[in-house]
Amino acid sequence: MNHSENVIEMVGVEHRYGRDATALAGVDLAIGRGEFVAIIGRNGSGKTTLAKHFNGLLRPTNSHGAVRLRTKDGTTVDTRGTRLHHLAATVGYVFQNPDRQIFHDTCREELEYGPRNLGADPAELAQEVSDSLELVGLAGHEETNPIHLSRGERQRLAIASTLIMGCDVAVVDEPTTGQDRAESRKILDALAHHHARGRTIVIISHDMALVAEYATRVVAMRQGRVLTDGSPAEVFSQREVIQESNIRPPQAAVLAAELGLPGILTVDDAVRAMSESRTAAPSPDASPTHDDKVH
Ligand SMILES: Nc1ncnc2c1ncn2[C@@H]1O[C@H](COP(=O)(O)OP(=O)(O)OP(=O)(O)O)[C@@H](O)[C@H]1O
Ligand SMILES: [Mg+2]
Repeated sequence: MNHSENVIEMVGVEHRYGRDATALAGVDLAIGRGEFVAIIGRNGSGKTTLAKHFNGLLRPTNSHGAVRLRTKDGTTVDTRGTRLHHLAATVGYVFQNPDRQIFHDTCREELEYGPRNLGADPAELAQEVSDSLELVGLAGHEETNPIHLSRGERQRLAIASTLIMGCDVAVVDEPTTGQDRAESRKILDALAHHHARGRTIVIISHDMALVAEYATRVVAMRQGRVLTDGSPAEVFSQREVIQESNIRPPQAAVLAAELGLPGILTVDDAVRAMSESRTAAPSPDASPTHDDKVH
């Protein structure tokens, strides 16, 4: 995947709600095409405010702060001077509550609505609808009324109806909050399928085990600033930083760090590393003596 081109660039972005609440206190951040980014951080750290800047739902409140998008036609636009529907063609935003964006009586109508408004050919649309339902694990639900879907399935329908618009980037705010393990996985798998087809994915999540498994990059927010930014292994190994931001890294990562196995994120990684360290273990003669113990 080519990460060399940035699809989103933020420079010096501040955002204040009213006079007192500074939600973003100066953020510089670039998102590369093809990344799968997870934004993490404690409640109120500015994650949603940050994400809403990615497609102009919010704009910087300081004059020199800027957010720029690389659009499909290769031009770069500033969100401040560009209409929302134009920005939405590049960055789609899926709200935390899927019911904010589901209005129709069948999944088919729900998915057809946006593309029809853009003048899509109805004959081609039928196939596209079936394909998008399949990509989010809802194959065959064309005629299902969304009210008969579970909350998690509606979340996946909302993802499909945003992505069927053809945006390059999908920003998804807390897609797994309140979902059980199995449903959370289906939602992340739906996003992973789109990622594998070349979309750039940005999620906000409190579920560190899923973040570790799916994201290629983690951006941790604290008090309106980027606290740390790197691969999941890099971010979750920064123990003090993590404690400060009240983030609980994946349990497998915590346990592995205690066992002296840094860079482990999942139980599978841990099992592999432990079996490798067993095979590579020195003979009993070479084991450390009492005097070698580190105090
Ligand atoms: N509409 C608003 N009006 C006033 N203050 C707001 C508004 N939305 C957010 N804030 C404040 O801005 C700060 C950042 O909020 P934001 O919603 O971006 O955080 P968050 O990291 O998404 O939190 P959560 O994990 O709870 O969703 C918080 O102090 C919040 O109270
Ligand atoms: Mg939020």
